[in-house]
Amino acid sequence: MADQINGKKVASVVLDACRAEVAELMAEGRRPGLAVVLVGSDPASEVYVASKERTCLDLGMHSRKLELPASTSQEKLLEVVADLNADEDIDGILVQSPLPPHMDEGEVVRAINPAKDVDGFHPENVAKLALEDPSGFVPCTPLGCQRLLEAYAIDPAGKHVVIVGRSLIVGKSLALLLMAKGPWANATVTVAHSRTQDLVAVTRQADILVAAVGVPEMLGAEHVREGAVVLDVGVNRVDDPEKKRGYRLCGDVDFSAVEPLASAITPVPGGVGPMTIAMLMSNTVKACRARRGQQEER
Ligand SMILES: NC(=O)c1ccc[n+]([C@@H]2O[C@H](COP(=O)([O-])OP(=O)(O)OC[C@H]3O[C@@H](n4cnc5c(N)ncnc54)[C@H](OP(=O)(O)O)[C@@H]3O)[C@@H](O)[C@H]2O)c1
Repeated sequence: MADQINGKKVASVVLDACRAEVAELMAEGRRPGLAVVLVGSDPASEVYVASKERTCLDLGMHSRKLELPASTSQEKLLEVVADLNADEDIDGILVQSPLPPHMDEGEVVRAINPAKDVDGFHPENVAKLALEDPSGFVPCTPLGCQRLLEAYAIDPAGKHVVIVGRSLIVGKSLALLLMAKGPWANATVTVAHSRTQDLVAVTRQADILVAAVGVPEMLGAEHVREGAVVLDVGVNRVDDPEKKRGYRLCGDVDFSAVEPLASAITPVPGGVGPMTIAMLMSNTVKACRARRGQQEER
């Protein structure tokens, strides 16, 4: 039986540390502020944005939620981003993905001031991650995965980490993070994706297996070597008429099949998910400190 990696518990430790830092910054006259921009009314995005706002307020941070209609033009969104870039009360800017299909998400991300890019998707921050420059922002979900490993004293150094999924948001960034030279990294990393041949043979080599695919319960017992650590990043809604809301949440890993084999595993929900918001708050506090330092130097 695997140890369950409790993301809620680790996230609350991270949030407590953020709360203390917010209090410290406020005593110095600086309140960290996060702006979240939501375009359209994607139901999952609305849930995420509400939760980010709640967490911000709970920590004593300044929160601004901007809700724009799905018909908003690219130009208008770029104007909103420019205003937030110039706003002294805002340290972090997050434009919730996905944007409506008529928008160019890349252009929007590039318009965000990299010093306020707490999602870590701006090319400057991606480059800093690749260059192992700690002044940049690392995307929140990969950062949360690394933090979970640290909290459970699962050192990836020298281990074979296999990540299924190569998105910038998760797989690719986590690969960069865990292969870096440094604490809770130094792993040998393999990244698999939809064109990988014989996925089972690849994933069975993993000491630490990370699923970031977006296919409900795709990875089963056959994909996992006995004793492996399994991090399930997937969050999928699956129809379930027995549930009041008509669906249940599940990961990319078939939990009941894999749990008996793994040495440790994250559940869904309650695993990686809570870490993402916690690391977003942590990145916003970091942005506030960095901007404050720069102001003092002037
Ligand atoms: N917990 C959190 O806070 C959090 C945060 C972000 C995302 N997520 C969840 O994590 C999952 C992945 O998100 P994402 O944004 O990275 O998704 P994504 O951009 O759709 O990327 C999915 C990746 O999985 C690969 N893939 C798809 N089908 C595959 C298959 N049959 N075999 C092997 N690889 C396959 C894709 O390969 P190709 O590149 O070849 O297409 C792609 O690299 C989703 O369930 C998402 O909801 C959770």
